[in-house]
Amino acid sequence: MADSPVDENLLNQLKKLQAKYDYMGQDLSSYLDGLLYSDYITYWDYIHVDTLLSLQNPETSFPDEKVFIIYHQITELYFKLVLLEIEQMTTKADIDEKFFIERLDRIIRYFQNLENSFDIMAKGMEKEQFLKFRMALLPASGFQSAQYRFIEFASTDLINLVSMEERERLKNADVDAMLEQIYWKYGATDLATGKKTLTLLQFESKYMKSFREAAIKYKDNNLRQIFVKHFSNSPRKNEIVEKLKEYDTLVNVFWPLAHMKSAGTYLKKDPEDIKATGGTNWQKYLPPRFQRRMFFPELWTEKEKQEWGIAAIKKAIMEAN
Ligand code: HEM
Repeated sequence: MADSPVDENLLNQLKKLQAKYDYMGQDLSSYLDGLLYSDYITYWDYIHVDTLLSLQNPETSFPDEKVFIIYHQITELYFKLVLLEIEQMTTKADIDEKFFIERLDRIIRYFQNLENSFDIMAKGMEKEQFLKFRMALLPASGFQSAQYRFIEFASTDLINLVSMEERERLKNADVDAMLEQIYWKYGATDLATGKKTLTLLQFESKYMKSFREAAIKYKDNNLRQIFVKHFSNSPRKNEIVEKLKEYDTLVNVFWPLAHMKSAGTYLKKDPEDIKATGGTNWQKYLPPRFQRRMFFPELWTEKEKQEWGIAAIKKAIMEAN
Protein backbone atom coordinates (compact mmCIF):
# COMPACT_ATOMS: atom_id res chain seq x y z
CA MET A 1 0.00 0.00 0.00
CA ALA A 2 1.37 3.42 -0.98
CA ASP A 3 2.25 5.79 1.88
CA SER A 4 -0.17 8.70 2.19
CA PRO A 5 1.46 12.03 1.23
CA VAL A 6 2.89 14.03 4.15
CA ASP A 7 0.88 17.13 4.97
CA GLU A 8 2.65 20.30 3.83
CA ASN A 9 2.16 22.01 7.20
CA LEU A 10 3.80 19.06 8.87
CA LEU A 11 6.75 19.29 6.51
CA ASN A 12 7.10 22.97 7.31
CA GLN A 13 7.04 22.22 11.02
CA LEU A 14 9.70 19.54 10.52
CA LYS A 15 11.89 22.00 8.65
CA LYS A 16 11.56 24.54 11.47
CA LEU A 17 12.37 21.87 14.01
CA GLN A 18 15.36 20.78 11.96
CA ALA A 19 16.65 24.36 11.89
CA LYS A 20 16.12 24.71 15.65
CA TYR A 21 17.98 21.50 16.50
CA ASP A 22 20.75 22.13 13.91
CA TYR A 23 21.34 25.50 15.53
CA MET A 24 21.97 23.78 18.86
CA GLY A 25 24.09 21.04 17.22
CA GLN A 26 21.46 18.43 18.14
CA ASP A 27 20.23 15.48 16.12
CA LEU A 28 16.51 15.99 15.45
CA SER A 29 15.99 12.35 14.53
CA SER A 30 17.08 11.18 18.01
CA TYR A 31 14.66 13.60 19.62
CA LEU A 32 11.84 12.31 17.38
CA ASP A 33 12.69 8.78 18.54
CA GLY A 34 12.30 10.01 22.10
CA LEU A 35 8.89 11.36 21.20
CA LEU A 36 7.90 7.94 19.84
CA TYR A 37 8.72 6.22 23.12
CA SER A 38 7.58 8.82 25.64
CA ASP A 39 4.22 8.46 27.39
CA TYR A 40 1.35 10.89 27.01
CA ILE A 41 1.28 13.41 29.80
CA THR A 42 -1.53 12.99 32.33
CA TYR A 43 -3.31 15.49 34.55
CA TRP A 44 -2.31 13.68 37.73
CA ASP A 45 1.38 13.62 36.85
CA TYR A 46 1.47 17.18 35.60
CA ILE A 47 -0.32 18.66 38.64
CA HIS A 48 1.38 16.20 41.01
CA VAL A 49 -2.00 15.48 42.54
CA ASP A 50 -0.86 12.49 44.60
CA THR A 51 2.01 14.45 46.11
CA LEU A 52 -0.23 17.42 46.79
CA LEU A 53 -2.82 15.30 48.55
CA SER A 54 -0.19 13.56 50.64
CA LEU A 55 0.92 16.77 52.32
CA GLN A 56 -1.79 17.01 54.99
CA ASN A 57 -0.31 15.35 58.03
CA PRO A 58 -2.07 16.32 61.27
CA GLU A 59 -0.49 16.12 64.71
CA THR A 60 -3.76 14.96 66.33
CA SER A 61 -6.77 12.87 65.34
CA PHE A 62 -9.23 15.81 65.42
CA PRO A 63 -10.72 15.90 61.90
CA ASP A 64 -10.85 19.72 61.81
CA GLU A 65 -7.09 19.91 62.09
CA LYS A 66 -7.01 19.00 58.39
CA VAL A 67 -9.20 22.02 57.58
CA PHE A 68 -6.64 24.12 59.43
CA ILE A 69 -3.69 22.61 57.58
CA ILE A 70 -5.28 22.73 54.13
CA TYR A 71 -6.37 26.34 54.43
CA HIS A 72 -2.87 27.35 55.49
CA GLN A 73 -1.51 25.49 52.48
CA ILE A 74 -4.01 27.20 50.17
CA THR A 75 -2.90 30.55 51.57
CA GLU A 76 0.77 29.71 51.02
CA LEU A 77 0.00 28.84 47.38
CA TYR A 78 -1.73 32.20 46.93
CA PHE A 79 1.29 33.89 48.52
CA LYS A 80 3.41 32.06 45.97
CA LEU A 81 1.24 33.43 43.16
CA VAL A 82 1.67 36.95 44.56
CA LEU A 83 5.44 36.52 44.69
CA LEU A 84 5.48 35.22 41.10
CA GLU A 85 3.76 38.39 39.93
CA ILE A 86 6.07 40.62 41.94
CA GLU A 87 9.07 38.77 40.50
CA GLN A 88 7.82 39.55 37.00
CA MET A 89 7.30 43.20 37.90
CA THR A 90 10.70 43.67 39.51
CA THR A 91 12.66 41.93 36.75
CA LYS A 92 10.89 43.26 33.64
CA ALA A 93 13.11 45.45 31.51
CA ASP A 94 11.36 48.62 30.27
CA ILE A 95 8.29 48.02 32.39
CA ASP A 96 5.26 49.97 31.18
CA GLU A 97 1.91 50.93 32.68
CA LYS A 98 -0.02 48.11 31.03
CA PHE A 99 2.26 45.40 32.38
CA PHE A 100 2.42 46.93 35.87
CA ILE A 101 -1.35 47.41 36.13
CA GLU A 102 -2.18 43.93 34.84
CA ARG A 103 0.14 42.27 37.36
CA LEU A 104 -1.10 44.50 40.16
CA ASP A 105 -4.66 43.52 39.25
CA ARG A 106 -3.70 39.86 39.54
CA ILE A 107 -2.17 40.42 42.97
CA ILE A 108 -5.27 42.31 44.09
CA ARG A 109 -7.46 39.40 42.95
CA TYR A 110 -5.34 36.91 44.89
CA PHE A 111 -5.61 38.92 48.08
CA GLN A 112 -9.33 39.50 47.54
CA ASN A 113 -9.77 35.74 47.35
CA LEU A 114 -7.75 35.28 50.52
CA GLU A 115 -9.76 37.90 52.36
CA ASN A 116 -13.10 36.50 51.15
CA SER A 117 -12.21 32.91 51.91
CA PHE A 118 -11.02 33.46 55.48
CA ASP A 119 -14.42 32.35 56.78
CA ILE A 120 -13.22 28.83 55.99
CA MET A 121 -11.16 29.38 59.14
CA ALA A 122 -13.41 31.74 61.10
CA LYS A 123 -16.53 29.60 60.70
CA GLY A 124 -15.30 26.27 59.46
CA MET A 125 -13.88 24.49 62.50
CA GLU A 126 -15.34 23.35 65.83
CA LYS A 127 -13.93 25.59 68.54
CA GLU A 128 -13.58 22.68 70.97
CA GLN A 129 -11.48 20.76 68.48
CA PHE A 130 -9.44 23.83 67.57
CA LEU A 131 -8.52 24.68 71.15
CA LYS A 132 -7.29 21.14 71.66
CA PHE A 133 -5.34 20.51 68.46
CA ARG A 134 -3.83 24.04 68.57
CA MET A 135 -2.06 23.12 71.79
CA ALA A 136 -0.38 20.21 70.02
CA LEU A 137 1.07 22.62 67.45
CA LEU A 138 2.91 25.00 69.78
CA PRO A 139 5.14 26.88 69.27
CA ALA A 140 4.34 26.91 65.53
CA SER A 141 2.29 29.87 64.28
CA GLY A 142 1.20 31.42 60.97
CA PHE A 143 3.43 34.21 62.24
CA GLN A 144 6.23 32.04 60.86
CA SER A 145 5.01 32.32 57.26
CA ALA A 146 8.14 33.44 55.41
CA GLN A 147 6.32 34.12 52.15
CA TYR A 148 4.13 36.68 53.91
CA ARG A 149 7.30 38.52 54.94
CA PHE A 150 8.85 38.21 51.47
CA ILE A 151 5.73 39.86 50.03
CA GLU A 152 6.31 42.74 52.43
CA PHE A 153 10.01 43.12 51.57
CA ALA A 154 9.16 43.12 47.86
CA SER A 155 6.32 45.62 48.17
CA THR A 156 7.88 48.55 49.95
CA ASP A 157 10.99 50.19 51.34
CA LEU A 158 12.33 48.54 54.47
CA ILE A 159 11.77 51.66 56.59
CA ASN A 160 7.99 51.17 56.16
CA LEU A 161 8.31 47.79 57.87
CA VAL A 162 10.19 49.16 60.84
CA SER A 163 8.09 49.40 64.00
CA MET A 164 6.15 52.63 64.15
CA GLU A 165 8.00 53.99 67.20
CA GLU A 166 11.42 53.57 65.53
CA ARG A 167 10.64 54.75 61.99
CA GLU A 168 11.66 58.39 62.42
CA ARG A 169 14.88 57.53 64.27
CA LEU A 170 15.95 54.92 61.70
CA LYS A 171 14.91 56.64 58.48
CA ASN A 172 18.54 56.91 57.28
CA ALA A 173 19.82 53.74 58.96
CA ASP A 174 21.33 50.72 57.20
CA VAL A 175 19.55 47.45 56.41
CA ASP A 176 20.77 45.67 59.54
CA ALA A 177 19.67 48.41 61.91
CA MET A 178 16.23 48.46 60.30
CA LEU A 179 15.88 44.68 60.34
CA GLU A 180 16.70 44.75 64.04
CA GLN A 181 13.59 46.88 64.59
CA ILE A 182 11.27 45.21 62.09
CA TYR A 183 7.69 45.51 63.28
CA TRP A 184 6.91 41.81 63.62
CA LYS A 185 9.53 41.21 66.29
CA TYR A 186 7.17 43.01 68.64
CA GLY A 187 4.43 40.51 67.89
CA ALA A 188 6.49 37.66 69.26
CA THR A 189 7.77 38.89 72.55
CA ASP A 190 6.71 37.04 75.65
CA LEU A 191 4.40 39.19 77.73
CA ALA A 192 5.63 37.98 81.07
CA THR A 193 9.40 38.09 80.49
CA GLY A 194 9.83 40.59 77.63
CA LYS A 195 12.00 37.97 75.89
CA LYS A 196 11.68 36.75 72.31
CA THR A 197 9.31 33.80 72.10
CA LEU A 198 10.49 30.44 70.85
CA THR A 199 8.23 31.05 67.84
CA LEU A 200 10.35 34.09 66.93
CA LEU A 201 13.72 32.54 67.78
CA GLN A 202 13.02 29.57 65.51
CA PHE A 203 11.67 31.81 62.76
CA GLU A 204 14.78 34.02 62.86
CA SER A 205 17.15 31.09 62.95
CA LYS A 206 15.54 29.56 59.85
CA TYR A 207 14.91 32.67 57.76
CA MET A 208 16.80 35.76 58.94
CA LYS A 209 19.61 35.25 56.43
CA SER A 210 17.12 35.00 53.55
CA PHE A 211 15.20 38.01 54.89
CA ARG A 212 18.39 40.06 54.91
CA GLU A 213 19.09 38.99 51.31
CA ALA A 214 15.55 39.93 50.31
CA ALA A 215 15.82 43.30 52.06
CA ILE A 216 18.98 44.04 50.05
CA LYS A 217 17.59 42.63 46.80
CA TYR A 218 14.43 44.75 46.95
CA LYS A 219 16.02 47.86 48.50
CA ASP A 220 15.87 49.89 45.26
CA ASN A 221 13.58 47.59 43.34
CA ASN A 222 10.33 46.99 45.18
CA LEU A 223 6.78 47.88 44.07
CA ARG A 224 6.95 51.30 45.75
CA GLN A 225 10.27 52.09 44.09
CA ILE A 226 9.00 50.96 40.66
CA PHE A 227 6.04 53.29 41.04
CA VAL A 228 8.21 56.25 42.07
CA LYS A 229 10.80 55.68 39.33
CA HIS A 230 8.56 54.80 36.41
CA PHE A 231 5.01 55.96 36.98
CA SER A 232 4.91 58.94 39.33
CA ASN A 233 4.69 61.24 36.30
CA SER A 234 2.76 58.88 34.07
CA PRO A 235 -0.52 59.94 32.40
CA ARG A 236 -2.00 56.84 34.09
CA LYS A 237 -0.65 57.85 37.50
CA ASN A 238 -4.08 58.27 39.12
CA GLU A 239 -5.23 54.83 38.01
CA ILE A 240 -2.03 53.25 39.34
CA VAL A 241 -2.30 55.13 42.64
CA GLU A 242 -5.84 53.84 43.16
CA LYS A 243 -4.69 50.28 42.55
CA LEU A 244 -1.68 50.60 44.84
CA LYS A 245 -3.98 51.93 47.56
CA GLU A 246 -6.33 49.03 47.02
CA TYR A 247 -3.42 46.60 47.36
CA ASP A 248 -2.16 48.41 50.48
CA THR A 249 -5.59 48.21 52.07
CA LEU A 250 -6.06 44.54 51.22
CA VAL A 251 -2.70 43.41 52.60
CA ASN A 252 -2.47 45.75 55.55
CA VAL A 253 -6.09 46.21 56.63
CA PHE A 254 -8.62 43.77 55.18
CA TRP A 255 -6.60 40.55 55.24
CA PRO A 256 -5.35 41.30 58.80
CA LEU A 257 -8.96 42.00 59.86
CA ALA A 258 -10.24 38.77 58.32
CA HIS A 259 -7.40 36.97 60.06
CA MET A 260 -8.16 38.68 63.37
CA LYS A 261 -11.78 37.63 63.11
CA SER A 262 -10.54 34.02 63.16
CA ALA A 263 -8.23 34.69 66.08
CA GLY A 264 -11.13 36.30 67.96
CA THR A 265 -13.43 33.37 67.23
CA TYR A 266 -11.13 30.74 68.62
CA LEU A 267 -8.84 32.33 71.17
CA LYS A 268 -10.32 33.40 74.46
CA LYS A 269 -9.91 37.04 75.38
CA ASP A 270 -8.60 36.48 78.90
CA PRO A 271 -4.80 37.15 79.01
CA GLU A 272 -4.56 33.96 81.05
CA ASP A 273 -5.41 32.08 77.88
CA ILE A 274 -2.73 33.62 75.69
CA LYS A 275 -1.00 30.28 76.23
CA ALA A 276 -2.72 28.95 73.10
CA THR A 277 -0.75 31.45 71.00
CA GLY A 278 2.65 30.69 72.47
CA GLY A 279 2.69 33.64 74.87
CA THR A 280 2.10 36.63 72.59
CA ASN A 281 -0.49 39.30 73.19
CA TRP A 282 -2.14 39.09 69.80
CA GLN A 283 -4.95 41.45 70.78
CA LYS A 284 -2.46 44.28 71.18
CA TYR A 285 -0.34 43.20 68.21
CA LEU A 286 -2.63 42.17 65.36
CA PRO A 287 -5.09 45.08 64.90
CA PRO A 288 -4.06 47.19 61.85
CA ARG A 289 -4.83 50.40 63.75
CA PHE A 290 -2.11 49.58 66.28
CA GLN A 291 0.57 48.52 63.80
CA ARG A 292 -0.29 51.16 61.21
CA ARG A 293 1.89 49.54 58.62
CA MET A 294 1.46 50.58 55.00
CA PHE A 295 3.44 49.99 51.84
CA PHE A 296 2.78 53.36 50.21
CA PRO A 297 2.50 55.93 53.02
CA GLU A 298 2.80 58.93 50.72
CA LEU A 299 -0.41 57.94 48.93
CA TRP A 300 -2.47 58.47 52.10
CA THR A 301 -3.46 61.69 53.84
CA GLU A 302 -2.17 62.40 57.37
CA LYS A 303 -5.68 61.80 58.70
CA GLU A 304 -5.96 58.46 56.88
CA LYS A 305 -2.59 57.44 58.30
CA GLN A 306 -3.54 58.45 61.83
CA GLU A 307 -6.81 56.55 61.52
CA TRP A 308 -5.22 53.72 59.55
CA GLY A 309 -7.79 51.17 58.54
CA ILE A 310 -10.82 53.10 59.72
CA ALA A 311 -11.39 55.10 56.51
CA ALA A 312 -10.95 51.97 54.41
CA ILE A 313 -13.44 50.05 56.51
CA LYS A 314 -15.99 52.89 56.35
CA LYS A 315 -15.57 53.12 52.56
CA ALA A 316 -16.05 49.35 52.19
CA ILE A 317 -19.25 49.51 54.28
CA MET A 318 -20.59 52.40 52.17
CA GLU A 319 -19.82 50.56 48.91
CA ALA A 320 -21.55 47.42 50.21
CA ASN A 321 -24.77 49.39 50.95
C1 HEM B 1 -8.14 29.88 63.23
C2 HEM B 1 -7.16 30.35 62.48
C3 HEM B 1 -6.06 31.23 62.97
C4 HEM B 1 -5.79 31.71 64.22
C5 HEM B 1 -6.58 31.50 65.50
C6 HEM B 1 -4.58 32.50 64.12
C7 HEM B 1 -3.98 33.14 65.19
C8 HEM B 1 -2.88 33.95 65.10
C9 HEM B 1 -2.28 34.67 66.18
C10 HEM B 1 -2.75 34.64 67.62
C11 HEM B 1 -1.22 35.37 65.69
C12 HEM B 1 -0.27 36.31 66.47
C13 HEM B 1 1.07 35.68 66.60
C14 HEM B 1 1.02 34.53 67.55
O1 HEM B 1 0.55 34.72 68.66
O2 HEM B 1 1.42 33.43 67.12
C15 HEM B 1 -1.15 35.09 64.29
C16 HEM B 1 -0.24 35.64 63.43
C17 HEM B 1 -0.19 35.37 62.08
N1 HEM B 1 -0.92 34.43 61.42
FE1 HEM B 1 -2.54 33.47 62.11
N2 HEM B 1 -4.15 32.49 62.83
C18 HEM B 1 -5.03 31.72 62.09
C19 HEM B 1 -4.93 31.44 60.74
C20 HEM B 1 -3.94 31.86 59.91
C21 HEM B 1 -3.82 31.52 58.53
C22 HEM B 1 -4.76 30.63 57.73
C23 HEM B 1 -2.69 32.11 58.06
C24 HEM B 1 -2.15 31.97 56.69
C25 HEM B 1 -0.89 31.78 56.42
C26 HEM B 1 -2.11 32.87 59.17
C27 HEM B 1 -1.00 33.66 59.09
C28 HEM B 1 -0.54 34.47 60.10
C29 HEM B 1 0.46 35.48 59.92
C30 HEM B 1 1.17 35.85 58.61
C31 HEM B 1 0.67 36.07 61.16
C32 HEM B 1 1.59 37.22 61.47
C33 HEM B 1 0.79 38.52 61.33
C34 HEM B 1 1.58 39.75 61.62
O3 HEM B 1 2.78 39.68 61.90
O4 HEM B 1 0.98 40.85 61.61
N3 HEM B 1 -2.90 32.69 60.27
N4 HEM B 1 -2.17 34.22 63.95
